Amino acid sequence: MALDVSAHFGNTDYLTDATPSAWAKGMEGSAILAIAGHVTRLKAEGADITNFTIGDFNPSIFPIPQAMREEIKAQLDAGQTNYPPAVGVPELRTAIRNLYRDKLGLDYPEGSVQVGSGARPPIYAAYRVLLEPGDVLVYPVPCWNVKYYAYLNNATGVPVETQAENGFMPTADDLRPHIRTARVIALNSPLNPCGTVISEDLLREICEEIVAENSRREAAGERPLILLYDQVYWQLTFEGYVHHTPVSLVPEMAPYTVFIDAISKCWAGTGLRVGWAVMPPWLRSKVAPLVGHMGAWSGRAEQQATAVVLSNEDHVATFNEDFQAAIKRRLSLLQDGLQSMRAKGLPADCLTAQGAIYLSARFELHGKTIAGRKIESDEDLRVLLLEKAGVAVVPFTAFGYSEGTGWVRFSVGAVTEEDVKGALTRIEALLSGK
Ligand SMILES: Cc1ncc(COP(=O)(O)O)c(C=O)c1O
Repeated sequence: MALDVSAHFGNTDYLTDATPSAWAKGMEGSAILAIAGHVTRLKAEGADITNFTIGDFNPSIFPIPQAMREEIKAQLDAGQTNYPPAVGVPELRTAIRNLYRDKLGLDYPEGSVQVGSGARPPIYAAYRVLLEPGDVLVYPVPCWNVKYYAYLNNATGVPVETQAENGFMPTADDLRPHIRTARVIALNSPLNPCGTVISEDLLREICEEIVAENSRREAAGERPLILLYDQVYWQLTFEGYVHHTPVSLVPEMAPYTVFIDAISKCWAGTGLRVGWAVMPPWLRSKVAPLVGHMGAWSGRAEQQATAVVLSNEDHVATFNEDFQAAIKRRLSLLQDGLQSMRAKGLPADCLTAQGAIYLSARFELHGKTIAGRKIESDEDLRVLLLEKAGVAVVPFTAFGYSEGTGWVRFSVGAVTEEDVKGALTRIEALLSGK
């Protein structure tokens, strides 16, 4: 008979408190996952909810590219199951360099690419090799998860609040007060949670500030300021908008830029865990052993399959086109629906969808009583939409934005167009008091 281990756990109250380090005790779980847990509980109780909360895909609605599925199986059959190199298999690193050369116009040398199990390990590793304890990590809010990476690295996270009229992107003016003190600035475009894209002018101006600051630092013998540019959604940039990169706009940014990327979003492959960072080789040489020690490499078969599919222009183009169109249709439906509510005088609004899988929407209900509930916080608003309209969204407060603005994120990776229409009908009924 197996030993009942839990019978031997002893004084768990004491041990739960006394065992983890103070650092571990200070670590927070994702606020979005907590909201997703609320939705799952209500669904389990039988509630009919349209779930716009998760930055993920429902595989029955958005499967991965057919070629990718077949290629992973073929790679497993071919015995691609042993340890991959810590930097990633050479075929994938070459395919990534070719992708950047052909689609982004950036010819990176061998030794620049670090593959990991999704974007997160390269993100963590890049911050870890750049930041000393107490170093300043500046990040615009709302944004995805940077505050957790600041904590994990004992860095001082400095959030910089952005404005809706700038698509929630930071301006050079917003960042200027922090340029002297920052060790790393984190930017993300297309932006999670807002679905917006940084403009050429904005990005250029920010890069010029960074380059000027770095000239000063080099002359003074100080450590440089690095830009971590998270572009995991770049292949989901919608027509009418252009994805720009720091290095193509300002080539002097090359030594100071770390790109973050993955197939997670653009191939609906969040569970495949293939991501990468592209950076100067001297930095990659420090990131690689860390990813290796964590064993945070991507599965070998998935890496080989990604290399094959990435290298086949037809596979990629056909998938991207249909996938992007399907995402855009859902976002447009939402956008049109919310704007038509606004035109009717209802307290709803949204930004234009420019990229990624998200829409920024605003419900100006603070201080109002609706469906018998007084709305006093963004959390009240979230719960109202969830419980009274069966619509699950994430308030921008979960992305570090200030309380009380009424801005929320809609994510469309797990909904059908019918789901979107149904949700809009229920939101309109709620807002118009029907
Ligand atoms: C902006 C951004 N960067 C990185 C990631 C993480 O990607 P991965 O799942 O490949 O680790 C996400 C996931 O939601 C994201 O939104």
